[in-house]
Amino acid sequence: MVKNKYPDKLLNDPKQEVAEAARRVQQALTRLGHCYLTKDGRLVEVGFSRLGVVGEQYGLLEVDTTRLPPRVNVARLVHPDTLHHLTAVVGKPVKRLNTTGLTYCVVLKPSPRKRLPKRIELDLTTRPAGEYMVPIGEGREGPVWRSLLDTSHVLIGGESRSGKSTWLNAMLVSLLNVYGPDSLRLALVDPKSVEFVAYRGIPHLLTGVATEVDDATAVTEALIAEMERRQSLFTAIMARNLVSYNAKADEPLPLVIAVIDEVTDIALQAGLRSPFYTNLIRLASKAGSFGIVLVLATQNPKAEVLNTLIRGNMSTRIAFRVATPEHSRVILGVGGAQNIPQTIRGRMMARLDARPVELQGYLVDDDVVKAITNRLRAQPPSPLSTEEAQLVLYAMHYLDGLFKIRELHEAFPGLSYRRIKRISQRWERRGWLRPGSTRRDSKVVTPELAQVANVTLANQLCGVGPRPKSRSHGHTGHTRSHDVENGHTDGHTGES
Ligand SMILES: Nc1ncnc2c1ncn2[C@@H]1O[C@H](COP(=O)(O)OP(=O)(O)O)[C@@H](O)[C@H]1O
Ligand SMILES: [Mg+2]
Repeated sequence: MVKNKYPDKLLNDPKQEVAEAARRVQQALTRLGHCYLTKDGRLVEVGFSRLGVVGEQYGLLEVDTTRLPPRVNVARLVHPDTLHHLTAVVGKPVKRLNTTGLTYCVVLKPSPRKRLPKRIELDLTTRPAGEYMVPIGEGREGPVWRSLLDTSHVLIGGESRSGKSTWLNAMLVSLLNVYGPDSLRLALVDPKSVEFVAYRGIPHLLTGVATEVDDATAVTEALIAEMERRQSLFTAIMARNLVSYNAKADEPLPLVIAVIDEVTDIALQAGLRSPFYTNLIRLASKAGSFGIVLVLATQNPKAEVLNTLIRGNMSTRIAFRVATPEHSRVILGVGGAQNIPQTIRGRMMARLDARPVELQGYLVDDDVVKAITNRLRAQPPSPLSTEEAQLVLYAMHYLDGLFKIRELHEAFPGLSYRRIKRISQRWERRGWLRPGSTRRDSKVVTPELAQVANVTLANQLCGVGPRPKSRSHGHTGHTRSHDVENGHTDGHTGES
């Protein structure tokens, strides 16, 4: 009955499913011409010598290769186009089993969903291309990173010791490892005074790490002032966001990230009429368009503090384990995060686009944070970011000492053509690049710039970008000889 009523649907019994799949495969192959019509009008089709089921999950269709219809092209039977067609006809993936003879394998049931790891360390070398990329967590399909330029403000909730600070550390070290103070500035608020100790004194800080309500208020005031300053800068050149501003402006502005831990507690302590809270609401609604990103974390997600004015502007929401469904709703808009097992630290539900997805946050060792921040404190403030230094090194090694914008953009797809062009204009004004080629987008790297880039990379800990940063000797000579080749020796004598 059922079979007649729904002839198109595969049945649930695996044996019947395989039989049905075999029927469809045979028909499809015939329709594709893998058959033979005898003189007396008899149709010879591809047949099967055996049908089988493996673990209820796979159906095996063993083609009877001893009795193939004459003139059937066996290679065509396993051609990807044919398999593609069979998959469409059967409605389940059809593959070729890697055996002698020819056996089609029909995936009856998709393999069980990949489990999320319970613990996974952050690997900074897996940072994908793109600007201001931060690691969100490991998903079933692999690592999930997002650009802060896309995520905009971030709201993070979760009970004590659920993984909030660890997530913030993963975000901060991923950015600090790549961006110098000229392209990234931080404002850190940490009422517990313990979480951000490691970041004290790094050159990226707009102000000291705020631990008291008064300091936190001062931080929001500084951010509002910066926002207003940017507002007039942006209006002057009709830029709508940081990317478009930096694409047009002569002096690019850094992305500012304000991380406020335990935001609910500060707001409640300061009061909901306090300057802190009113500033926070203003920043949440407006700062994003001026390249100022709020990252708010709380173990106490109260709807009265995180009201719709604030929540509505937080486009990225992350909930670690929370105590109640209500807390989950305040953060994500839906319940669910209360069901995350307490034993799996760092497990989260993240609402990045539409529906919340389950991810496992990356674990960052305190030692990694210390190593990176120590490096930032120790090194004399470098006028170059790591990425900029890598551009220089790439130009030295692979482009004959020429800063060729198009080639560099191809080698560093994470850096837009415009950004590299802007960097080159800035460096040219500074005397670090000199015209020297017929191509307009190709400048000569001066020994001074090569030197600065070397020092920057020598101080650097973890590698990013397409090339290793070793082989750092003899650049000055390299540039020189190159310049000599091109007849641009003048001006060099004084420089090195
Ligand atoms: N992503 C994670 N993977 C594994 N363990 C984690 C993870 N995040 C946190 N932990 C463990 O939980 C502890 C508390 O995490 P923490 O980030 O300080 O929580 P919170 O800031 O939410 O109180 C950490 O010291 C660490 O041992
Ligand atoms: Mg914490």
